[in-house]
Amino acid sequence: MTTATAASVNVPLLDLKAQYATIRAEIEPVVKEVIESQYFIGGPKIAELEAATATYCHAKHAIGCANGSDAILLALQALDIKQGDAVLCPTFTFFATAGSVHRLGATPVFVDCDPATYNICPESTRAAFRCHKNIKAIVPVHLFGQAADLDAMFDIANEHGVPVVEDAAQAIGTEDHRGVRVGSRGVIGTFSYFPSKNLGGFGDGGIMTTNDDALADRIKRLRNHGMEPKYYHDEVGMNSRLDALQAAVLLVKMRHLDAWSAGRQRNAAFYDATFRAAGAVDSGTPISEGGFALRYPKAAAKGARHIYNQYTIRVPGEIRDAIRQDLADRKIGTEIYYPVPLHMQKCFAHLHYTKGIFPHAERAALETIALPIFADLVPAQLEHVATSVIECVRNRTASAR
Ligand SMILES: Cc1ncc(COP(=O)(O)O)c(C=O)c1O
Repeated sequence: MTTATAASVNVPLLDLKAQYATIRAEIEPVVKEVIESQYFIGGPKIAELEAATATYCHAKHAIGCANGSDAILLALQALDIKQGDAVLCPTFTFFATAGSVHRLGATPVFVDCDPATYNICPESTRAAFRCHKNIKAIVPVHLFGQAADLDAMFDIANEHGVPVVEDAAQAIGTEDHRGVRVGSRGVIGTFSYFPSKNLGGFGDGGIMTTNDDALADRIKRLRNHGMEPKYYHDEVGMNSRLDALQAAVLLVKMRHLDAWSAGRQRNAAFYDATFRAAGAVDSGTPISEGGFALRYPKAAAKGARHIYNQYTIRVPGEIRDAIRQDLADRKIGTEIYYPVPLHMQKCFAHLHYTKGIFPHAERAALETIALPIFADLVPAQLEHVATSVIECVRNRTASAR
């Protein structure tokens, strides 16, 4: 690509308008149908989406709710998590994982991440059980669309007699090395329909999966003020319902989900190959070990399905922000997921975690950058991102010497 062409290529982190242009003709009639019906809360579209999601996620039940944060809260409430309990979760995740624990009056107990995959670290999980009493559940997160090590999580959970709730907000359709879909194995799986997810709504939305009939019934009540039958409340729930407009949109988008995830995988493979050809190695090797100062994501286990909700590279922490600015100057959108691990957040200062306690998460917070990976990226955009990343890393490492 000539410099003049590259300069004209604009690559946002995510381009939902490009996606909408491909499905507008399918979306408009179903939105109109809901508006004409004036049936906005509950109804056939919700039931249809829940059935389709249960099938897609290989679970017996799926229950819609207002967002992925409520999904975690409702899941934990249905498992009787309450004030005084502790719930184990990764420190390197979006805030909602721990925020939902806190909103129930329970205490999040944080654990470190695996430096290659960024998913919850089994050794750190075992250590947390040795140091903390009263842990009542584990909430692993399938971060960036890659399956966490659930075999290890279940070994630990079974040893301690606690349930596993899968935070699969970023991972609809993700599979582990045996082809087991996330959300089908934990006692409850939770998903988000936030617009930036692989399956995103036109607003907030979430859903929970479970194979347990009694839990499914309880979650259905809890998302609707604990009400059953109408105006009778044996326990207090909340108003956390998914609306029919979202369900109608999501049903259309579901038809495209596998193709979009495959597109993300193709884009990831292109980045991997281009970075490898430039001398980069994968995130299994720490940046501190030298070589070309760029790490692309370590490949998922053989047989696993990574849906690449995010494609995260690593560069040395001292030049990360400068590289990000260089990419912004070339009209390439990036993001830092996540700049502050949860144990370092001000709102959890009362938990007295000290800096340095979770070195892998703290290092990842300084070294990672998420690149555009959405399915509608065109070859010129992919080429511009990959070439620019390589050039910016080379320039910045040369001037840092
Ligand atoms: C890992 C994780 N958990 C939970 C959530 C919460 O989902 P929502 O934004 O729909 O409340 C998100 C959403 O960004 C997430 O990424």
